[in-house]
Amino acid sequence: MSTDDFADDVHLVTGGAGFTGFKLGQKLADIGKKVILVDIVPPKWPLASNMTFVQCNLTKEQEVTSALRGANCVYHLASYGMSGKEHFNNKLIEEVNVRGTENVIQACLAHKIKRLVYTSSNNVVFGGQEISNGDETLPYLPLNKFLDHYSKTKRIAEQKVLEADKENVLRTCALRLGGVYGVGEQRHTPRVVNMTKNGLMVALFGTESLTDFLHVDNMVQAHILAAKALTKAEGCKSAGQAYFISDGAPINTFDFFRPLIKGLGYPMPTIAIPVWLMWFIALVLESVHFIVSGIYDFQPIFTRMEVLKMCVNNYFCIDKAKRELGYMPVKQNYLSDVLDDFIKQGFRKKETMKKPVVISMRWCVNIALSVIFTSFVLSYLQTLNFIHLEKLH
Ligand SMILES: NC(=O)c1ccc[n+]([C@@H]2O[C@H](COP(=O)([O-])OP(=O)(O)OC[C@H]3O[C@@H](n4cnc5c(N)ncnc54)[C@H](O)[C@@H]3O)[C@@H](O)[C@H]2O)c1
Repeated sequence: MSTDDFADDVHLVTGGAGFTGFKLGQKLADIGKKVILVDIVPPKWPLASNMTFVQCNLTKEQEVTSALRGANCVYHLASYGMSGKEHFNNKLIEEVNVRGTENVIQACLAHKIKRLVYTSSNNVVFGGQEISNGDETLPYLPLNKFLDHYSKTKRIAEQKVLEADKENVLRTCALRLGGVYGVGEQRHTPRVVNMTKNGLMVALFGTESLTDFLHVDNMVQAHILAAKALTKAEGCKSAGQAYFISDGAPINTFDFFRPLIKGLGYPMPTIAIPVWLMWFIALVLESVHFIVSGIYDFQPIFTRMEVLKMCVNNYFCIDKAKRELGYMPVKQNYLSDVLDDFIKQGFRKKETMKKPVVISMRWCVNIALSVIFTSFVLSYLQTLNFIHLEKLH
């Protein structure tokens, strides 16, 4: 079998049991490719006849070497720590995102695999500074400026993948995604819907700022085009390159989710709170989490990084991907099918329902801990102030 012909390639997707990885695998299978999905857990969805699944922990070198045998083109999507409680497990984030990526590169070299597409994030250049229409000439954010370990490790891993690009050995490229959405997405949309349903969507913030979203169909399209562009037939034009990938329609986060929230029968909040306050709340929540996570591992409502992603312009130009890969978003900020899906699942607000503010035990504990911590910090600041005043006298 030729190892430089996209048509004959065996395509392998790491993170193939995740939402985006499975969608990519499914599309490749639909267009007739042989697909191997690799993940630490099995997929929840049925496999087509030309798909196989290999269970593998990417942090284990031997397992990765064995899992990647037989592939010609690898899409490395598996990662850990983007959101939720896992966001704070720095050790595992490092192991999966950095060590796991090193293992994937080594296995590609060991098996003489020709192509590797790395799924990166636009966070590799973002540390809370304004970026409007940023392009690929932007430098990486310095390692000491990252606000979260996930983004930092995505940057380290991306760099390792791009440095591994070598003519006639392994061709690599990286796609820096915006926030992915679509029917079945598990990270962002269910969180917004649950917050709305539980009465926690009480205020707006950062309403002027724009960010990028990415429909999963566009994400899949970009990955397939990027892999094709690594072939000799296409002049290896994506080799060694990074590309920002989004719907190409920057939007404010609240405006993006507005059709979903309203479509489910909930009003949008009308009060706006200052960004500094949200940032401070996130800081307090993260600090409380840091202190108590050993005995109570809760999920903070927001992290500082999430607040900044919503409140500071961070959107990117996709011209390079359009020009070099032929990327063309087919959907832009399109939530209609997501809304239909949530309605089907019974998330539409019942008209007859009285409006109880259902706040779960977990939220109560989160809020109580934050209040305790804030009081502690404020009382400490007061003491400091007192000491300072005493010195002055
Ligand atoms: N979802 C987004 O909004 C978004 C935005 C920017 C970039 N990305 C990138 O896209 C990729 C996919 O993201 P996603 O949100 O769909 O992720 P996901 O969490 O749905 O999928 C990641 C998969 O990786 C697997 N995995 C984790 N640790 C593993 C290990 N040790 N060995 C093998 N498999 C392991 C998980 O089981 C999971 O199925 C990631 O690389 C992520 O950094 C996603």
